[in-house]
Amino acid sequence: MIWCGLLCGIFGCICGGAVPVLIDGLRRLEYRGYDSVGFAVISGGRVLVVKDKGNIDEFLSKIDIDSVESEIGIGHTRWATHGAPCKENAHPHLDCTGSIAVVHNGVLENFLDLRSGLQARGHRFASNTDSEVIAHLIEEGVMSGMCLKDALAAASRKIRGSMAVAAISSAEPDRIVCFRRESPLVVGMGPGGVYCASDILAMVKYATEAYHVPEGSLATLTRVGLSFEGPGGDRIDPPSLKISLEPGAVERGGYKHFMLKEIHEQPIAVSNTLRIYREYIDRAALLLHGKRVLLTGSGTSYHACLCASYLMSSLGVDAMAVISSELQEYLKGQPLSGSAVVAVSQSGETADTLGAIRHAKRLGARVIGITNTLSSSITNISDAYLCTQGGPEIGVAATKSFLTQLVVLEMLSFRTALAAGSISKQECEEAYEEMGALPAKIGGIIQRLESVREIALKYSDRRDAFFLGRGINVATALEGALKLKEISYIHAEGYPAGESKHGPISLVEPGFLCVFVSPMDSTRQRIIGNIMEMKARGAEIFSVLTEGDSELIEVSDGYFEVPESPEYLYPVLCTVPLQALAYYVAIYKGLDPDRPRNLAKSVTVL
Ligand code: M6R
Repeated sequence: MIWCGLLCGIFGCICGGAVPVLIDGLRRLEYRGYDSVGFAVISGGRVLVVKDKGNIDEFLSKIDIDSVESEIGIGHTRWATHGAPCKENAHPHLDCTGSIAVVHNGVLENFLDLRSGLQARGHRFASNTDSEVIAHLIEEGVMSGMCLKDALAAASRKIRGSMAVAAISSAEPDRIVCFRRESPLVVGMGPGGVYCASDILAMVKYATEAYHVPEGSLATLTRVGLSFEGPGGDRIDPPSLKISLEPGAVERGGYKHFMLKEIHEQPIAVSNTLRIYREYIDRAALLLHGKRVLLTGSGTSYHACLCASYLMSSLGVDAMAVISSELQEYLKGQPLSGSAVVAVSQSGETADTLGAIRHAKRLGARVIGITNTLSSSITNISDAYLCTQGGPEIGVAATKSFLTQLVVLEMLSFRTALAAGSISKQECEEAYEEMGALPAKIGGIIQRLESVREIALKYSDRRDAFFLGRGINVATALEGALKLKEISYIHAEGYPAGESKHGPISLVEPGFLCVFVSPMDSTRQRIIGNIMEMKARGAEIFSVLTEGDSELIEVSDGYFEVPESPEYLYPVLCTVPLQALAYYVAIYKGLDPDRPRNLAKSVTVL
C-alpha cells in the first residue's frame, strides 16, 4: 500500500535554538494534519531526524528536545489519506546517504514510475510515501555535481503533481531550499532568523516580512536573507507582505477551544466583513450582471452558496448552487460563456473547489473567488475576488467563516440585483441597513448561548438527529447537521422539512431528536405542519425560532429565540445557536471540537 502525504503542514527555520521554534511553528500548523510529526536538523555536521506518529503533544512526550542543539531545521505535520499513519511514513524523509532531508506537502502523480526507476538504479526506500522520491531525486542531482538548489529544481522538473518542498543537506549546512507548485508556501524573515511555512500563521511570532513563493519557483533561505528563482531559472523579487497579525490572533485568547473563541468572534468578524468596500462588491456584481450565476463550494462553504442561490433567485438573478466536487459532472462540456461562477472557500485551498474553478474557466466562465485567505490559490486563479474579513479560523469546524461568507454573498446578491434593475436603489440601501444591524443581533445571541449548554447536555446521548428547515433555511439546517455530526459524531441529517415526509420520517420514533429552523418567515405556517407530523410520531422538538413566537414555543420541547429579521438574514442568526449546540454536545461527550477525527481544516485532496 502506498501512503501519500497530502494534507500537511511544513515549517523550516534558520535561527538560534531552532528546535523549539520548529515545534512552535508545527504546533500552529497542526490544524492541517495531526497524524504524525517530525523534524530534521543539522547538528554536529550531520542531519538528525526525529519523527513519530501521533500529534505534537504525544511526540513531545517521547523526546527530549533540549538535547538537540541546532540553528537550522525543517519540520512537518502530516494528515494521511489512506490507512493508519506510522513512524516510517512520517516526514522528513532522507536520501540513501542520510545527508539530505526533505519535507513535502502535496501529491506526486508519477511517483510510482519515479520510484521504480530510482529502485532500479539502486536507491533504497525507507517508507512507502510518494514524498520520499524527492529526497532520492535530489540525491541523484547532487551526485552528478549539482548544488542542493539546482538538484531540487531538477527533481521538480521530473515530478508531476503538487508540491511544496523544503530540503536541507549536511553538505550545505547554511541553507534551506524550497520549491512550490500548486501547494501553498510562504517564506519570511525577522530580526532573529528566516522561516518557511505552509501558512503565514506559523511564522507570525517570528517574521516581520513574508513572501508567497510564486507558482513554480524556488526560494533559498540563508542566515543573510532570502532569494528567489522563477520557473525559467531567472532571479525574481516577489512582493513582500508586512506581517501585521498579532501572534495572539492565533492563540485561543482565554477560551477553552478555538471553536468557542471563533463563535464569540462572529460579531466582530461580520462587522469587519460589512466594511468591504462597496466598489469591490460593485465590480464583482458587474461580472455577474446578465449572467447565469453558478455558486460553488464544499462543506460549509457550499451551504453558504445554497443560501445565496435562494436569495439571488428571490431577487430575480438566475442562480444555482452546485457542490464543487460535482460541478464538473454537472456541467459536462457545456460552454459557460453566458455564466459566471462564484467560488466560496474559507481556506482558498480546497482541492475540489480549485478543480471546479479550473474546469469552469476552461469552459469559458468568469470566476469570482470568495475566500478568507487573501493570498490563497483560489484568490490567485479567480478573475476577481472578495475577501471575507473573519481573521484566522483554526477550529476544524467552520463557524465565523460561514457567517462572513453569508454576509459577502448577501451584499453581492443585492448589488447584482440592483445592477440588473430588479430591485431599486432604496431596496438595496434598506438591505444594507438591515445587514448593518447584524453584529449587535449576533452579539445578543452570543450572550444567551449558555442556555444552549443545558439543552446540549440533554441531547448528548442521542444517536441520531434530523435538522429541518424550509426555503433559505434548508441551508441553515444542513449547516446545523454538519456541525453536530462532524464534531460530536452523532448521526445528524439536514433535510428540507417538506421533504421529510417522503422517507426520512420512517426513522422517527418516540424521543427521536428533530431540530427545526423555523423563524417567522414566509415558510412558517408550512413548517408548523411539519413539526406536528414529527410530534405525532413522538419526536422531541427543538426549535430555533423568532423572539416571542408563542405558538411555536408551545409545540416545542426546547427552543432558542433569535431576534426578528428579514427572511434573508435568518440563516446568519439561526446558525449561531446550532454551532453552540454542536460545540457543547462535543464537550459533554468528552471530544475535542477543534480536532475531530478523520478531518483536516484544509482539504487539499480531490
Ligand atoms: O476552506 P473551505 O471553506 O473550502 O473548506 C470547505 C470544507 O472542507 C469545510 O467547510 C468543512 O466542511 C468544514 N469542516 C465544515 O465545518
